Amino acid sequence: MIPDNILEKVGRNLHLQQGHPLNLIKQKIEGYFASVFDSDGFDQFSFFDSFDPYVSIKDNFDDLLIPEDHVSRSSNDTYYRSPDIVLRTHTSAHQNLLLKKGKRYFLVTGDVYRKDTIDATHYPVFHQVEGVWAGSADFWPTTPECDIPKTVEEFLQSTLEGLAHHLFGKDIECRWSDDYFPFTDPSWELEIKFNGEWLEVLGCGLIHKQILTNCAKDPSRPGIGWAFGLGLERLAMILYGIPDIRLFWSEDPRFHDQFKDKTPDDKISFVSYSKYPPVYKDISFWAHPGPYHENTLHQITREVAGDLVEEVKLTDNFTHPKHGKTNHTYRITYRSMDRSLTNEEINQLQNEIRTRVEQLPVELR
Ligand code: DAH
Repeated sequence: MIPDNILEKVGRNLHLQQGHPLNLIKQKIEGYFASVFDSDGFDQFSFFDSFDPYVSIKDNFDDLLIPEDHVSRSSNDTYYRSPDIVLRTHTSAHQNLLLKKGKRYFLVTGDVYRKDTIDATHYPVFHQVEGVWAGSADFWPTTPECDIPKTVEEFLQSTLEGLAHHLFGKDIECRWSDDYFPFTDPSWELEIKFNGEWLEVLGCGLIHKQILTNCAKDPSRPGIGWAFGLGLERLAMILYGIPDIRLFWSEDPRFHDQFKDKTPDDKISFVSYSKYPPVYKDISFWAHPGPYHENTLHQITREVAGDLVEEVKLTDNFTHPKHGKTNHTYRITYRSMDRSLTNEEINQLQNEIRTRVEQLPVELR
């Protein structure tokens, strides 16, 4: 059920490769938590980075209170190995087990997998860091003036603003807004202003009381804590100026030579090597609403064309007033990161995509 182009990514572990930009960012984040939670008299954080990416749906969804009908559980969104085992869709999948083992302060880094649209910032495999700080109920002084959730919220926000400053510099502006995640309550997102633009960098919140209760040795004393999750590619693209997410998977020395001898403290600005010309191809078909799911074309294109596909973009979408079918026109952009493409090879790929689309419940035009 999981296609080869995804299976071959399992075990690549870009986040563990020395001199890879994702490893540099991971080290920078771990370095921050190691220093902050050492000098302030807090208990130290543990760092995990080698858990198996195949997890149970209990760990990935149920124990995180993700509703039965949540879209992320659908096989249009998630890679199922069997009805019970998925490629983790987020590193939050390891939260419950670690808490049950009595770990209270930790980061988990790993590769995560999602069926998604195709463009310069989305790829079906990416890397996340999950962070958890879970204090026991009597961690904070219980004087009447001390509003514990408020104190924990402020602690979370100051810790994560500190992380943003550690990564992007002291002068960076931060902004908080309310968000929603099933496993935190309340939840927020943190944005930073970078080159004049507000960019979302992470999601976080106070760990849902039900989760702390389920994981506590004594469920009548669940304690209180916070958690956050962030995507490493996104941070690395902002911080190092990497323009396309496929570059992380490239084996081109023109990419790797720019990072391989660097340390997490070095300032690095990626210099794009020549950009090769794109080739555009359109594909159009009629589809009945329902049986056709948009991610399907993205999956097929990725399976056939691999990293030669840069973007799949819906350029036209109208429903015929008489027969009620919807026309979908997509523009596929092909471009290699490291060489020029020939028309011949792209025609071949496009024909293969058309052949596979013909097998869907759609009418090619
Ligand atoms: N798991 C979330 C995601 O993949 C990220 C996240 C958000 C993790 C909030 C957290 C959290 O632990 O508190 O989008």
